[in-house]
Amino acid sequence: MVICITGASSGIGEATALRLAREPGARMVLVARRGDRLARLADRLPCPATTVAVDLTDDDAPARVRAHVEAEHGGRLDVLVNNAGASWRARFADGGWENVRRTMAINFDAHVRLTEALLPLVRASAPSTIVNVSSTSGRIARAGAGAYCASKFALCGWSDALGAEERPNGVNVALVLPGFIHTEGFPQRELPGFLVSEPDVVADAIADCVRNGRIERYAPRWYWLAAAVRILLPRGVRRFTSSKAGSRLVTATRPGDGA
Ligand SMILES: NC(=O)c1ccc[n+]([C@@H]2O[C@H](COP(=O)([O-])OP(=O)(O)OC[C@H]3O[C@@H](n4cnc5c(N)ncnc54)[C@H](OP(=O)(O)O)[C@@H]3O)[C@@H](O)[C@H]2O)c1
Repeated sequence: MVICITGASSGIGEATALRLAREPGARMVLVARRGDRLARLADRLPCPATTVAVDLTDDDAPARVRAHVEAEHGGRLDVLVNNAGASWRARFADGGWENVRRTMAINFDAHVRLTEALLPLVRASAPSTIVNVSSTSGRIARAGAGAYCASKFALCGWSDALGAEERPNGVNVALVLPGFIHTEGFPQRELPGFLVSEPDVVADAIADCVRNGRIERYAPRWYWLAAAVRILLPRGVRRFTSSKAGSRLVTATRPGDGA
């Protein structure tokens, strides 16, 4: 089983690589910018693994990953996990279009472009799986995270449509929606502990989609409540997200970016 995971150099992607490496016959392709981190992870995995150090927002990134999968695995690709992502905290009046543009570039466009390049391989390897890692922020938006929420809402809609299109081709397109997870890019230091989970919880949800053909998983599972409340009580949710307590939920920020 050939598995390609983007954003494998830390957090959820790294945990997912460790989890899926235990699948029978797993062969891993690890993708992210920090090649040294990917190489160290490849050494730790109990299965064969190769790495592609690439910025997924670069024009030639999809072609480079595809060429790698063709060269290393004869074009076989059973599982694609579109997980790479980032967030820069800013209210729209401050961050403007530029913040939306850079966030969409990695959280949405990069996944669409990579999937376009790899879809023929995934189809040829069917039954196969594409897992798109969105967020509970793809169902419920918060002040100061508009660019991030927009990118994750877009990923949800696109995944559902792609899933409907690819089902007849034997490709399961699954959506995983993490809640607050403690990782490098999303430290979640300001939140109460009961709201924050470890990356393994998301890795398990991704493995569940791969193994059992699930099409959607919140991780932890109870986060679906947030999506339900948003549909049932939009005004109440708006009051909360514009309150002082609600604004504490905006912790997703790339360290060092100063956003
Ligand atoms: N943690 C949370 O609370 C949470 C909640 C909901 C959803 N998510 C989503 O989960 C996914 C993984 O995030 P995480 O929490 O594990 O954060 P993380 O530890 O910061 O991991 C992000 C990964 O994406 C890679 N990446 C970022 N920009 C890239 C680029 N331009 N090209 C290639 N790779 C890039 C990073 O690797 P390099 O820096 O080496 O490139 C890293 O491996 C993201 O899509 C995130 O939106 C996270």
